[in-house]
Amino acid sequence: MTSIQENSRIKCSEQITEDIFRLTLHAPLIVSQAKPGQFVMVKTSSNFDPLLRRPFSIHDISTDGDLSLLYKTIGKGTSLLSTFTQGMNVDLIGPLGNGFTFSDNQNICLIGGGMGIAPLLFLARHLKALSKESCTHQVLLGARDHRELEPIAAQFLSLGYKTELATDDGSCGHHGYVSQLLPDILPTVQGVCVCGPTPFMAEVARQCRAANLPCQASMETHMACGLGACLGCTIHGSDGAYKHVCKHGPVFDANEVLWPL
Ligand SMILES: Cc1cc2nc3c(=O)[nH]c(=O)nc-3n(C[C@H](O)[C@H](O)[C@H](O)COP(=O)(O)OP(=O)(O)OC[C@H]3O[C@@H](n4cnc5c(N)ncnc54)[C@H](O)[C@@H]3O)c2cc1C
Ligand code: FES
Repeated sequence: MTSIQENSRIKCSEQITEDIFRLTLHAPLIVSQAKPGQFVMVKTSSNFDPLLRRPFSIHDISTDGDLSLLYKTIGKGTSLLSTFTQGMNVDLIGPLGNGFTFSDNQNICLIGGGMGIAPLLFLARHLKALSKESCTHQVLLGARDHRELEPIAAQFLSLGYKTELATDDGSCGHHGYVSQLLPDILPTVQGVCVCGPTPFMAEVARQCRAANLPCQASMETHMACGLGACLGCTIHGSDGAYKHVCKHGPVFDANEVLWPL
């Protein structure tokens, strides 16, 4: 599938916490092709600073062509993005990457940590629409504190998902890592989709391997082009080969990734 360059229009920019924002853009061309787990490259400046586009997972889409991004401000590009207001245009390239795969009769556990929660809402919406009534998917979400988690968790709950939370400070849900909730869930599902910081995904992958369950992990790296041209987004595969996150991923079978010990 070819990627699309689209001049989207901002419908809404919401500040969720001090440094987390949700941006809703009208981008019907990209939305018409988007699959859960794919990402867009966003031009965060009208000049050349920063020069490079920034990658963001597609957080959610709507039937009327809207696409939302959930992001944390960490540097120049995301700080600029947070100043964008309703009615402004934003240049996007997408949808990029491969996305998650699943079959319609399996119970899946979606587990996200920090900004790794971002791609899981679109996945949850899609999974819900595709699944048989009898499927009971699970959602496990972890973050620093309740302010980061509750507004996002509400959206999974509104889709009808059983949603369990974990926070670093214990301000809601389990006090500790969200991966600590996984052992109770693994016997009830046939697959896991994970996104978040690498050490967290490594731990989820380890638990899935021990339970002999398939695990799909959405990887994050620095990206320059997002199109397979610059080779700036490589990770090590378990077979010894380099993988390009923008082209071969961002979603990988966790067994194909060489995880840090
Ligand atoms: C496929 C993909 C999907 C992503 N989806 C999201 C998303 O949905 N929400 C979200 O908040 N972020 C997401 N990211 C990360 C996001 O792209 C970066 O946070 C963003 O590019 C930072 O841009 P910046 O100009 O603000 O920061 P910069 O000024 O470029 O960097 C600030 C600091 O952060 C570090 N940094 C930047 N990007 C990364 C990275 N990818 N991994 C580790 N360290 C990094 C830099 O080394 C630097 O120290 C995704 C990344 C990828 C590859
Ligand atoms: S970001 Fe350029 S090859 Fe992946």
